[in-house]
This record gives sequence, C-alpha cells and structure tokens, in this order.
Amino acid sequence: MRISVIGCGYLGAVHASAMAELGHDVVGIDVDTDKITRLSQGRPVFFEPGLAEVLTSAIGSGRLRFSTDIADAAGAQVHFIAVGTPQKQGSHAADLRYVDAAVQSLLPHLAVGDLVVGKSTVPVGTAARLADLITASGSGATLAWNPEFLREGFAVQDTVSPDRLVYGVPAGEAGEHATGLLNEVYAAAIAAGTPTVVTDYATSELVKAAANAFLATKISFINAMAEIAEVSGADVTQLADAIGFDDRIGRRFLNAGVGFGGGCLPKDIRAFTARAEELGRGESVAFLKEVDAINLRRRQRVVELAVSALAGPVYHSKVAVLGLSFKPDSDDVRDSPALDVAVQLRGLGADVVATDPQAIDNSRARHPQLTYSTDLEETLRDADAVVLVTEWPEFRELDPVWAATLVRTPTIVDGRNTLDAAAWRAAGWTYLGLGRP
Ligand code: UDX
Repeated sequence: MRISVIGCGYLGAVHASAMAELGHDVVGIDVDTDKITRLSQGRPVFFEPGLAEVLTSAIGSGRLRFSTDIADAAGAQVHFIAVGTPQKQGSHAADLRYVDAAVQSLLPHLAVGDLVVGKSTVPVGTAARLADLITASGSGATLAWNPEFLREGFAVQDTVSPDRLVYGVPAGEAGEHATGLLNEVYAAAIAAGTPTVVTDYATSELVKAAANAFLATKISFINAMAEIAEVSGADVTQLADAIGFDDRIGRRFLNAGVGFGGGCLPKDIRAFTARAEELGRGESVAFLKEVDAINLRRRQRVVELAVSALAGPVYHSKVAVLGLSFKPDSDDVRDSPALDVAVQLRGLGADVVATDPQAIDNSRARHPQLTYSTDLEETLRDADAVVLVTEWPEFRELDPVWAATLVRTPTIVDGRNTLDAAAWRAAGWTYLGLGRP
C-alpha cells in the first residue's frame, strides 16, 4: 500500500519507518529541510532505541523515502497526519496550527477514495472540523482518526505491535471504506491478534486524552501517597507493591518519585482540561489540575531533600545530578523533571554538575547555564550531594562503594526510588528516597 506521513518529528519518523518495515511503500514529508536530509541518510534526529536500524533497512529496501514537497504525497492512498500539537504559549490549550496547516497543504493533492488519517493528539472535536474541511474541498477523500499510544524508548515496537488499534471513522459507507483501508495498513498487527476498536471521531479523540489522563492520575496518585508516607513514616514502595497485587489496580505506573514529564502526559492533561472547560464541563476533569500540581510538587520535594542533605550552605556546594531526560532510553528533555530539578538547584546557587547518557545536548540547548559532564566519575568527584533523577541503567547499577570514594559527602537523593537503599547505607551513604523513611 502507498502511504504518506506528513510530519517527521518523533511520531512521524517512527510511524513512517515502521510502516515501511511492515512492507508498505512510504514517503515521509516535513517542512524542515535539515530533518529530511538527515532522515534520508538514515540518521534519526533524536535518540530512540532500534530506530536507526529500521530507518536504514527501510531506506535500503527502497520502501521509504523522505521529501520536503507535499506534492510527493500525491499517489498515496493513505495519508497520516503526524505533526505536533504543542501547548499554546500562555495557555494550557493545544496549538493546532500545525495540524491545520498539514491538512490544508494536503488538500490539493488528494484523490477520490484517499484516506487522511489523523494520528496527532488533538482536542475532541478537531476531527469533525477537519472532516468538514476535507468534504468542502470536493476532493472525495475521507478522514479517519487513529490515535497513537507509543511510548518513547519502545516506539518502534509499540508501532509495529500496538496493544490496541482505535479507528474513529464517519458513519456509513465512508466509514466502512476507511476501516477497510486501515485494516490493510495494520494487517500484520491484526493477524497477530491486536484488538481493534472502531468508533466515531469524538470517541477516538477522547480515548487518547483519557488514556493519558488515567496514566498521569495513576502516577500522581502514588506520589500523593508518597507525600502521606513522608509525614507518617510509611514506605510508599512497599505500599505500591501491596496494592499492586490487586489486579484491579496493578503494579505498573505506581512508581513514586520525581514524577512524570515528557512531550505527552503534562501537555495532554492540560489540553484536556482546557478543552473540557471550553465545552462547559471543566468540573468533570478538575481533578487533573490536582494531578498536575502533585506532579510538580514532587520536583520541589527532590530539590528540598537535596538542599536539606547538604552539610553547609547551598551556595557553592557541589551537587551531582544523575539524569536529564524525562525517562531512560530517551534524549527528550521536554518538561523533564530531571532537568527542572537541576535548573532549580542551580538557581539556588549550587554548583550543579549534571550528566546523562543521551540528553546533554538537548539540555544544553535549553539551559546553557548548567555545567554538564559526559563522565560519571567527574560528575561525582567531590560532590556534597548526589541526586538521581532519571533511572538509566548506568545509574541504577552504580557501585555505592566506588561512588563513596569519589564524593566529598556520601549523601544521595534517590528521586526514582530505584536504588537498593540497604546496600547504599551499608556502603556508608545517607540514603534519601521519596515517600520512604
Ligand atoms: C506516554 C504514554 O505512556 C503513551 O501511551 C503516550 O502515547 C505518550 O505518553 P511516554 O511519554 O513515552 O508515553 O512515557 P511513559 O513511559 O508513559 O512515562 C511518562 C513519564 O511518567 C516519565 O517521566 C516517567 O518517568 C513517569 N513515570 C512512569 C513515573 O514517574 N512513574 C511510573 O510509575 C511510570
């Protein structure tokens, strides 16, 4: 099947590569010339495990090419819209200008029977509006909404073998046509048993908003329990294990720590709240404001713990910050709790030295005032406190005995509750977790 993917950022680059990997003939289109040049050479513009390999093999097979010219979308039967929907400046709402521009630019190149498929995360109501636009153009194309649930770090795997497929389609024959084409696109996943939910536009848009709201709520729930544990002497990690054994609750996404970040959860819960308010139902999701507030308080807590752990004044104390990306296996620092903690500690006057296996360049681009090191030993040397904020394997596996020989004061704040507290204490460290005695 011939497919075009409009927008080759995180979502689009992965989607285009995965579709080519599944055997489709794909063209990826983006307005950013540098991005297209790099992708054409098989070089992703961000770090994602496995992506470079899939990209290179798909380009080599002749099934994947990239272009800056939207006219190259002509001839494809299915056109995926995978552009960003960032948070609007000065507001919590989603900025839809890139989605609107992508659909507008595609209109002259659509043929009768083509399917335009929205993958971007949008406020409910967007698909219906875009469908009207496509109908009014007289192109004879149909719109479907097909939200994406991929996780960074597992993006290729999540795209090739998703845990569910959701199609928002119009009623009647157009809907059947859309469903048929999407079933062809995802034939391999469907044959492997992936469940499919075929529904209307609004439900498909809301599924995505609801899924992210639920995940964010689950994390903030356990972080709220961490706050209570901190004033009552309980241990939130044991509490999570114990409630997680109830399979109605489940242990996943109950890791208390510095909280969630990244390009999706924070902006998506804010956009969802803003959209619900526009629809006159702000009160229905008012709890998401609490979810956001709890999440941001955890960053504060890590900063406070680090400051309280210092023997002397924060000014000119050296704090080693381990981790900058919002989660391991990613170089993404958008709304990263780790980078935020590093910046706040620097703002308080600490000599922060931060390290990360992948995210230093992206962090430096945003916060050149911080000191970065690619060397763990140099980062730890003479530190007055160590703060672990992203649970990369190299930090989780850090040898506390070796690390103790490097630092000035063996104090560690484990912002992800990921270290073996007993082993660190046995090696002479003052160990401080979140929501743990
Ligand atoms: C998320 C959703 O999982 C995905 O389905 C959606 O498409 C996009 O948003 P992603 O942002 O890649 O994916 O990361 P995810 O693995 O969900 O983690 C989000 C954040 O939550 C990270 O900062 C992570 O460290 C944090 N987190 C996760 C916790 O703090 N505790 C947990 O128990 C789980």
